[in-house]
Parts: sequence; structure tokens; C-alpha cells
Amino acid sequence: MEKEEKWIKIAQNIEEINFENNIASIQINEKLICVIKTPVGLRACLSKCPHAGGDLSTGFLDAKGNIICPVHNYRFNLQNGRDTNGEGYFLKIFQMKENESGIFLKM
Ligand code: FES
Repeated sequence: MEKEEKWIKIAQNIEEINFENNIASIQINEKLICVIKTPVGLRACLSKCPHAGGDLSTGFLDAKGNIICPVHNYRFNLQNGRDTNGEGYFLKIFQMKENESGIFLKM
């Protein structure tokens, strides 16, 4: 069973989130996190690329909804965090939920 205190409210609604190229950068507990608007809903991941620390908040999305790091162009699946080349890099993904109380991210 999930503990309610692990969910952190990041906005009341999607209009409150400041997206640029479908990616917003937020800070929670000293962690920089990307919130990403994808064709299948909101996703969230750590901003720090697991390859060499690039800033994914300045990256971009491909047509499949993968996030592409601006430094070496590795792509990461926002469902499971895997790099799409299969090199074994994992991006930290955070669960999100939306309801009438707002948009929440699970830490
Ligand atoms: S730092 Fe992101 S792909 Fe290398």
C-alpha cells in the first residue's frame, strides 16, 4: 500500500506547469526533475542524464515520446527509464498521478 506522504503536489493543473518544448524543470528536495508532456500523458524523470550527467531539461522528445539528452543524444524510454540503445543506462523515473486535487509526483 502506498503511503500518501510520498506523493508531492507539483501543481493544481497542467496549465500551472511551465513547459518549454514539452519539458518543465522543477526542484523537489534538492533534486532537479523534468516533468514531460508526452502523447500518453505526463511523465517525470531525474534531470540528470545517467550517461554523463547532461541536463535532460534542455533535451527534447522524439516522435515515440522518448526523451533525448542534448549532450550525446542518448534516448530514454519514459515508461521504464531504459536507454533505447540497450547499453544499460537507466534514467530514474518518477510515478505521477492526476486527480481533482492536483498533479502529484511520487518521491
Ligand atoms: S550525458 Fe546524456 S547522453 Fe551523454
